[in-house]
Amino acid sequence: MEYSNLHITTEKAEKIAFEIFNVQGSAKSLPGEVDFNFKIKAEDGESYILKVSRPGENESYLDFQQQLLQYAAIHGRDLIIPKVILDKEGNTMSDIQDDYGQMRKVRLLSWISGRVWSGVNPQLDHLRYSLGEHCGSLTHALQGFNHTEAQRKFVWDVAQGEWTTNYLHLFDDEEKEIISFFQEQFQNAQPEYAQLRKAVVHNDANDNNVIVSEDLVHPKVVSAIDFGDAVYTQIINDLAIACAYAIMGHNDPLEAALPIVKGYHHTFPLEERELKHLYMAIAMRLVISVTKSALNKIEEPDNTYLLISEEPAWEVLKKWRYIPADYAYFSFREACGYTAHPQENRFARWAGKTAFSIEKLFPTIGLNEIHTIDLSVSSTWLGHEKDYNDLDYFQYKINKLQSQYPSKIVAGGYLEPRPVYTTSSYDKIGNKGRESRTIHLGVDFWLPAATTVHALLDGEVVVAVNDAGEKEYGGMVILKHKEDGLEFYSLYGHLSVESATQHKLGDRITSGQQIGVLGEVHENGNWVPHLHFQVMLSLLEYTEDFPGVAYFNQRSVWASICPDPNLLFKSDALGHYAEVSNNEIIAYRKEHLGKSLSLQYKVPLKMVRGAGQYLMDQYGQKYLDTVNNVAHVGHEHPAVVTAGQEQMALINTNSRYLHENINELAKELLETLPPELSVLHFVNSGSEANELAIRMVKAATGQRDIIASEVGYHGNSNRCIDISSYKFDGKGGQGAPEHTHIFPLPDAFRGKYRGNNTALNYAEEVKKQLDKIQAKGRNVGAFIIEPIISCGGQIELPEGFLTKAYEMVREAGGLCISDEVQVGCGRMGKTFWGFQLHNVVPDIVTIGKPLGNGHPLAAVACTPAVAEKFANGMEYFNTFGGNPVSCAIGAEVLKVVKREKLQEHAYKIGEFLKAELRELAVDFPIIGDVRGQGLFLGIELVNETMEPLAEQTDYLANRMKEHGILMSTDGPDHNVLKIKPPLVLTLENAEELVFYLRKVLKEDFMQL
Ligand SMILES: Cc1ncc(COP(=O)(O)O)c(C=O)c1O
Repeated sequence: MEYSNLHITTEKAEKIAFEIFNVQGSAKSLPGEVDFNFKIKAEDGESYILKVSRPGENESYLDFQQQLLQYAAIHGRDLIIPKVILDKEGNTMSDIQDDYGQMRKVRLLSWISGRVWSGVNPQLDHLRYSLGEHCGSLTHALQGFNHTEAQRKFVWDVAQGEWTTNYLHLFDDEEKEIISFFQEQFQNAQPEYAQLRKAVVHNDANDNNVIVSEDLVHPKVVSAIDFGDAVYTQIINDLAIACAYAIMGHNDPLEAALPIVKGYHHTFPLEERELKHLYMAIAMRLVISVTKSALNKIEEPDNTYLLISEEPAWEVLKKWRYIPADYAYFSFREACGYTAHPQENRFARWAGKTAFSIEKLFPTIGLNEIHTIDLSVSSTWLGHEKDYNDLDYFQYKINKLQSQYPSKIVAGGYLEPRPVYTTSSYDKIGNKGRESRTIHLGVDFWLPAATTVHALLDGEVVVAVNDAGEKEYGGMVILKHKEDGLEFYSLYGHLSVESATQHKLGDRITSGQQIGVLGEVHENGNWVPHLHFQVMLSLLEYTEDFPGVAYFNQRSVWASICPDPNLLFKSDALGHYAEVSNNEIIAYRKEHLGKSLSLQYKVPLKMVRGAGQYLMDQYGQKYLDTVNNVAHVGHEHPAVVTAGQEQMALINTNSRYLHENINELAKELLETLPPELSVLHFVNSGSEANELAIRMVKAATGQRDIIASEVGYHGNSNRCIDISSYKFDGKGGQGAPEHTHIFPLPDAFRGKYRGNNTALNYAEEVKKQLDKIQAKGRNVGAFIIEPIISCGGQIELPEGFLTKAYEMVREAGGLCISDEVQVGCGRMGKTFWGFQLHNVVPDIVTIGKPLGNGHPLAAVACTPAVAEKFANGMEYFNTFGGNPVSCAIGAEVLKVVKREKLQEHAYKIGEFLKAELRELAVDFPIIGDVRGQGLFLGIELVNETMEPLAEQTDYLANRMKEHGILMSTDGPDHNVLKIKPPLVLTLENAEELVFYLRKVLKEDFMQL
């Protein structure tokens, strides 16, 4: 039938609602595949959905839907579903004549308010969980319901999906291969699949049939709508359909499916045998969908609604095809609380009855005891990245351990999260950004190359390969075993290529027989020689390889597929990686550490390793650090680490003894400063630097009054807090003390004076403070400010402001202090120090955070005149300041900045990033301002009336964290995102940052 002859106008819909149901209101047309649907907004505020069927619609089929809704309304206790509204005569449906003279059935249902799933962004795990929960509840409510129409022939019923085999010719070769692969699985599954539990189910929780709550941060599924596809079928098909649509558009569709399965199981417990067919059922629903789309293109080309799922359905199908069916099954089982591998307990029981000595693996070594080695992310034995990547050094350390424990084999590693898998084959982009494989699935035995390796059990060779490539296995053999009717596998990795590949598939190996010898570095994937021994309960679909390391988020599934080899050996020493939970650490902190110590992020992170611009948590998950300007030249920069380690091994004393290091650091620092600032004092923190600066001011001027900026922060000591409006004007603060004089934050975007020509206005505010001090009969000691006010929200000082302010302060006899604790040491890009951006030379410069790259080291630079006055006879002694270790580190930091041209790099990357962020601001007006210099940038979020958006800023930072990117927020209104990464941030990192910012900025909560 012509689509145009079915059309119902909104006027007609309004008329129907009024005449048949006595509902007066306005109609709006809605999408629908079969029915013509309208939202009717009644004058009394209620809303309804009017459904007009196609001519000749089967009345019994409509009755089925109405009865189903009425049944579910009675049996689903807290379930929200559309309510059947009876017509004027009390019927659940009525007849009308359309404008073409055809008779049509009409029904009216209550409107479920909320948002349609397809319009919700982001769709996160907890939302998909609630989708599963809702679908499960609905299935639960429909238990016991039946109707003759429920048993109908229906193309969208997964169980009846065989019809799709008649249309393979509609697809190209690649598509045919995928579709027929799943059709075959479907056919082969029939004997078991046909026996699964059946019921009448909704059968169509697609992304236009699911209503989500209005909560933009914690949305939940409110209801499923449109019961037109309900059918009596295998219950698992209902879940399969919910999954099939809700996993579209995700990099890892299986991971996206798991919360849905978990939620469904929570409200409608699923059986193991049902889960076995879920992977296939999801695929078959997608096969039906793409086949229907292909047919619809021919049959109803102008109905675009019928094609909306085609592209994303194909995208999922193509990914789904390469997920091993068993792996999906095990993951579903795990999500439902079953052992991921069905044989896990059986294997453990069998292994419990037997015992194998380790000696059996290496009879020529003749050792049976283990010395456990810690290669976890936080292992101090493993040390720096540069150390563990140095194979000679690694081997040397293993040899040392071995000679320390001559009667033991150095071994360990089951389920250990490790940082050592650094090649790209261990990384992927998952549903939440970068993910790394880090969880080791076997036990490593660190023994010399050529050590013979023997079979523990009788077995058949099923894999014998050279798994060549950096950080792969090299020579590798997998044996298949059958014990007590149980089938499992053992994997022997890092053998010599010759000894591994001499085996043929199908060869029988007897227990104790030699399998191979350990490979040399060049043939074992470039590792220090060792045996990787792993047990597997399934081979999945691997034929030439098998993962020895798993992604953290999949670790429980893999741990079940690959049980602990120590179940065989029962060695006390071969324990598991023992983990201290974050909650334990938090609980201890809460009880025993200062109550005002705060933690970053709603769900705090534990970081145990740094490398360049990345931080790693205890599971080896990498985070891009855009926050830490302390790790100035990169976290644990090898040259800086070495400088510290080497000096630490020699001597660390105070500066009363002669040592070159303090002079060396002074020379490096003075090279970067203008000649006027030629005297240095070394201290241990930014606070101490400012504290000393204030003492100098008093000594030099005899005055105590300090002028500082609103929302400035200068440190945590008494005197520093006294000049930090950020603290004394904030929570717990008591306002400015007598000798502190605050002028308004010189913010040209949202401050007291705005626009381009505000420098003089703000300078005038400084003048007012000078006058105020003088009016009290005193005079100014100093004016302190950061060149970009960090805690104030990355506020750049208006051009010309600093020159004017310095002029006025000096005229009044005061000194000028530039607090470079945050911005110094090359971060500004254009200049090495922040004050140089403004063509001024301060009297005192305080330097902190970046100087020690994380080591507590800070400095005060001043003019000889200030230094002279400060040296009034009282000794300045500092126990730690200027010690040889700190100075070795500081000097190396400054050398690295020079050697690696990090100032130029900060300029280049900073300019690129700023330009990209400004483009983002064009696309997303929530970004009111992008500012800063070099790699010290800020993004300010405001609404149309320039009100600050703190919640959105916090949301953005937390969502970025979920994508593995660390960002911080600040500013008096908490609406500024700060970007101040280690200077080694690359162009790719900057692009990645902008990519994810764009992604999160599109999310519902970020819309103005
Ligand atoms: C501008 C500024 N000055 C001084 C300090 C104090 O430095 P520290 O924490 O090393 O004592 C900070 C610390 O954040 C700072 O941001």
